[in-house]
Amino acid sequence: MTSHAADQRMTARKSGPLRGVAEVPGDKSISHRALILGALAVGETRISGLLEGQDVLDTARAMRAFGADVVQHGGGAWSVHGVGVGGFAEPEGVIDCGNSGTGVRLIMGAMATTAMTATFTGDASLRKRPMGRVTEPLALFGARAYGRKGGRLPMTVVGAANPVPVRYAVPVPSAQVKSAVLLAGLNAPGQTVVIEREATRDHSERMLAGFGAEVTVEDGPEGRVITLTGQPELRPQVVAVPRDPSSAAFAVCAALIIEGSEIMVPGVSQNPTRNGLLKTLVEVGADIAFQNPRLEGGEPVADLRVRFSGALRGVDVPPGRAPSMIDEYPVLAVVAAFAEGPTVMRGVKELRVKESDRIDAMARGLEACGVRVEEDADTLTVHGMGAGGVPGGATCAVHLDHRIAMSFLVLGMASVRPVTVDDASPIATSFPLFEGLMTGLGADLSRG
Ligand code: S3P
Repeated sequence: MTSHAADQRMTARKSGPLRGVAEVPGDKSISHRALILGALAVGETRISGLLEGQDVLDTARAMRAFGADVVQHGGGAWSVHGVGVGGFAEPEGVIDCGNSGTGVRLIMGAMATTAMTATFTGDASLRKRPMGRVTEPLALFGARAYGRKGGRLPMTVVGAANPVPVRYAVPVPSAQVKSAVLLAGLNAPGQTVVIEREATRDHSERMLAGFGAEVTVEDGPEGRVITLTGQPELRPQVVAVPRDPSSAAFAVCAALIIEGSEIMVPGVSQNPTRNGLLKTLVEVGADIAFQNPRLEGGEPVADLRVRFSGALRGVDVPPGRAPSMIDEYPVLAVVAAFAEGPTVMRGVKELRVKESDRIDAMARGLEACGVRVEEDADTLTVHGMGAGGVPGGATCAVHLDHRIAMSFLVLGMASVRPVTVDDASPIATSFPLFEGLMTGLGADLSRG
């Protein structure tokens, strides 16, 4: 192990009960999109509640490199002076998107129909991830991409000087691919059509419409058909970023498995493209009350009152639910370890191309903590040991993946023996205040 990794270890010990209010930060997906669409609007977009995690900060830096004036005012308040659709300037340096697949893929889309060349890279995790899923549809607009073997970063994208609109059926359920095509379609004349067989998070469609683009969504026999009319003048907006349900998931799941806990988690998204974990938790027998339903920043939200739930039971999670909870499987796998009986997560092969191979990372870490698991290419099964029955007592490898780190720390808060993660630094990409928020609720977390 390198000395760098040794400095970044974090340990969770049997904790609780958790009590209090968990105010989680702004939504990562919406934060990226607010910066990018702000940069493509004409005039000043004002954003509140922006997630100030490293992934989003890297997108802010990238938008400056493409010519937008992006200003941080403090406390999540930002402003973006956009350059208009087609107005990006060619960046002078390499665009480093750090750990963020969303950042790099959306930005590639946003520049691919402007006559310029940009080179993208990222950290060791992002450099392993497939970019072909984005550069293939971008080629249909007339863009060209030159990357490493297997479509890996670093990669240079040459934007199309005379883009044509496209009709594209997304072959994998991916909001990033859908969004890259829609963002590219902004600077193509005519109508760009994206078809997705299964609905993925719809923040791009909602926000494009909010910025004044003409976007229609229809459900047809092929799936969801999204039609964007190109070359709109995007109007600057006031964007209030709602809280991130994927970050809320860690507090919710910790409260469910730590004896005596009762917490409130305000403003959690009920958007049907994001609420698959909550649906699943209700099925496993979680004690969650959904209070005060309302709209916040254009998203349906509710306040959650979450109580320790000592009699959780394993369930079969259907493959069709995967897009609406794709980032929540690692922490669901932790809850499943504390349930009675097996939890079978089907149709989850996309987890293999996230910040890490999340099926493998969860399987190896759970086994090290004394939990029996089975996996195949597309399925993860966790054999639950009941409340209080998970041994723990291991050091789990994080593989530069924030959600793997937070998931094993949640496990260690409820297992018999402590759990250490070998590198907690990636948590800063999406949830920089995780440690403070969780210890504030009563979690026992320490460095080293
Ligand atoms: C995201 C889409 C999902 C998700 C990621 C954020 C987005 O990725 O895992 O954390 O903001 O569009 P895929 O598009 O690869 O499924």
